[in-house]
Amino acid sequence: MILKNRTAIVTGASDGLGKEVALKLGKEGVNLALIARRKEKLEEVKKQIKGVKVEIYPCDVKNLSQLKETIKKIIDDFKTVNILLNIAGIWQKKMPVEEIDEEVINDVITTNLTGLIHITKLVIPLLKKQPEAAIINISSMTGVKFPPGQSVYAATKWGVRGFTEVIREDLRGTSVKVSGIYQAGVKTNMFFKTGEKFTEGVYEKFMEPKDLAGIIIFMLSQPPHIWLEEIRVNYK
Ligand SMILES: NC(=O)c1ccc[n+]([C@@H]2O[C@H](COP(=O)([O-])OP(=O)(O)OC[C@H]3O[C@@H](n4cnc5c(N)ncnc54)[C@H](OP(=O)(O)O)[C@@H]3O)[C@@H](O)[C@H]2O)c1
Repeated sequence: MILKNRTAIVTGASDGLGKEVALKLGKEGVNLALIARRKEKLEEVKKQIKGVKVEIYPCDVKNLSQLKETIKKIIDDFKTVNILLNIAGIWQKKMPVEEIDEEVINDVITTNLTGLIHITKLVIPLLKKQPEAAIINISSMTGVKFPPGQSVYAATKWGVRGFTEVIREDLRGTSVKVSGIYQAGVKTNMFFKTGEKFTEGVYEKFMEPKDLAGIIIFMLSQPPHIWLEEIRVNYK
């Protein structure tokens, strides 16, 4: 897809990977609808992007009525959408399932999985109207493996993988290409927001958000007859 003058919705754009992707897409000339809960963080991201249309939509993806309202506003503001990047997500601090708070279980599932499904359902009709369109869902290496202590997070990331694989088949023959990314550790604050701790030297080996953002741009920039359906990214 030629990226210049296209429009992308990026969820999780206030921080970490989503922020880095938004900054990079802006440099490629992509107009941006940025979603996350923290308005002030979205404003900071918006300020750093020049030369394209950027609108911010403070919204909790766990809240379906907020999501519906947000997509309505995006349609009013942009008229067309070519790209949906589902990046918003939260970590579940590693522990056996019987020790995980009920509230954490619900939050992780409704953010990482239910919210992603709802927004995708709302945006697909818009994408289908475009001659070229793409959905990229950020799962995780946890969506292809079985890491101990990550039961609920894994349930959501395997769920995202299943959803991604099925909608790719459902949308085959339309203009919408669907892809999943399964990456290992990235140096963001996602883990520390839950008080997660790492053995010395582990976090230091993780990828930078810009490494992964570069991969997303590469995927989106492929010519129309090619699509990278799935990418697994690990660090050395
Ligand atoms: N970091 C890693 O090692 C790693 C590895 C594999 C996969 N991933 C996945 O990559 C994605 C991005 O993670 P990250 O590392 O960039 O995390 P991050 O730095 O914590 O950023 C998460 C983003 O999601 C947004 N978000 C969280 N809950 C939300 C909600 N309910 N509604 C709307 N937005 C919400 C946050 O914004 P607000 O707080 O402002 O709402 C923030 O913009 C996640 O799906 C994560 O599971 C990360």
